[in-house]
Amino acid sequence: MSVIAIVGAGHVGVVYAAGLAELGHQIQVVDIDERRIAGLREGRIWFYEPGLPELLERGLKRRRITFTTSYADGLRRARFVFVCVPTPSTADGSLDDSYLRAAFARIRAEAGRPAPIVVNKSTVPVGTGDIAEGIFDDGRFAVVSNPEFLAEGRAVEDFFHPARVVIGTHDRTAGELVAALYAPLRAPIVLTDPVTAEFSKLAANGFLAMKISFANTISKIAEGIGADGEGLAKALSLDPRIGAGHLRPGLGYGGSCLPKDLAAIASLARRFAGSADLFGAVDRVNREQRLRVVEMLTDRFGTVAGRRIAVLGLAFKANTDDVRESPALAIARQLADLHARVAVYDPVVNGQLHPDLAKDLIRSRSAVAAARNADALIVATDWPEFSALDLGSLRRAMKGDLLVDGRGAFDATSVRRAGFELFSFVAPARTRPAPVGVSAA
Ligand code: UDX
Repeated sequence: MSVIAIVGAGHVGVVYAAGLAELGHQIQVVDIDERRIAGLREGRIWFYEPGLPELLERGLKRRRITFTTSYADGLRRARFVFVCVPTPSTADGSLDDSYLRAAFARIRAEAGRPAPIVVNKSTVPVGTGDIAEGIFDDGRFAVVSNPEFLAEGRAVEDFFHPARVVIGTHDRTAGELVAALYAPLRAPIVLTDPVTAEFSKLAANGFLAMKISFANTISKIAEGIGADGEGLAKALSLDPRIGAGHLRPGLGYGGSCLPKDLAAIASLARRFAGSADLFGAVDRVNREQRLRVVEMLTDRFGTVAGRRIAVLGLAFKANTDDVRESPALAIARQLADLHARVAVYDPVVNGQLHPDLAKDLIRSRSAVAAARNADALIVATDWPEFSALDLGSLRRAMKGDLLVDGRGAFDATSVRRAGFELFSFVAPARTRPAPVGVSAA
């Protein structure tokens, strides 16, 4: 058992707190936000993440987790300090490291002796010099980079079953001590230097973004030639060189990581690879996916002004209440700007919208309520509950008959049978090929 301090009670910090407590450690979480900390002490998490409340509850019951706004208290007797603070994008795509620098400076000032091993989980601006080594330069601290690969909505699962753990440090002993914390998870461990560890996170997210833009382009070609999107995805994903993940076409990627990390890797490519063409194309394809929906509606109606459009989903993907860089939100925004009457429903996102946007949207309490009298309906987030909606009820509630399935929620035949005209990113073929099975042969 080790005493571990965690700085930053966000999407990463709280998962690590609850996860490391479950592995038997004593956790002390520090955050400067008093309201967040007060809620967390009572087991209230300020964001939605499946399975996390239950895991946190167990840690609290066993008295393995404490929360504080005091660095001195949080760092007391800590053997490790995990730094999990945000590093948002700046206008030019590079990362804003000011929260990280502030957290490092407080740790340096308030850590006791012996000093804890500093484990950085925040994404740092790679290639701009080592921030941590610049700040922890008095010989007391070992510094380890340990990028996080948790995906929102499945973060608890990802914590306990990581595909790999990457540890970058110039201090081998510290690296091995951090590796030992992860030993119970039985994941492959890559022990390397800090720059490599940090870049591995950007490169992985750059690749995932590229895969999604690839899938979106491929699906348009499939539409043109009359190929079946689902069969195609299955055929591709069974090739182990390609792999199944992140091949779903739809409204493109959003969230706090992929867009930001793509911008960061593009900025590195411009400096060190001579050009950022590859990532520029990935980004363009992604933006076009969102625009296609609005263009299609504009083509269809002449103008969307005055039309009622129902948007199902606001989160950037299912199983999260995060709306950062959400394609659903971007589409709702564009339609509202074009003076459509936009009725939105999301099963979890509630009140987290910017007031400027919130005033332009009609918030509905259910999918059917959003659909009432709508000219068109857009499925914009891949919430599983949308796939289970009764298409007949939706259709009857609506005035128009256009359904834009931006997330492949429905089977095309059922949609058309319910009387809808379908615009889909996933199963666009009008005549659906025979169902594709997977046989062992
Ligand atoms: C991602 C990485 O997966 C994770 O390892 C990293 O730590 C943080 O960034 P996250 O942003 O939580 O995680 O979500 P992810 O599941 O990767 O999805 C990102 C976006 O791509 C979402 O908007 C999602 O809807 C979209 N997406 C994902 C697709 O459009 N198609 C897919 O096949 C997969």
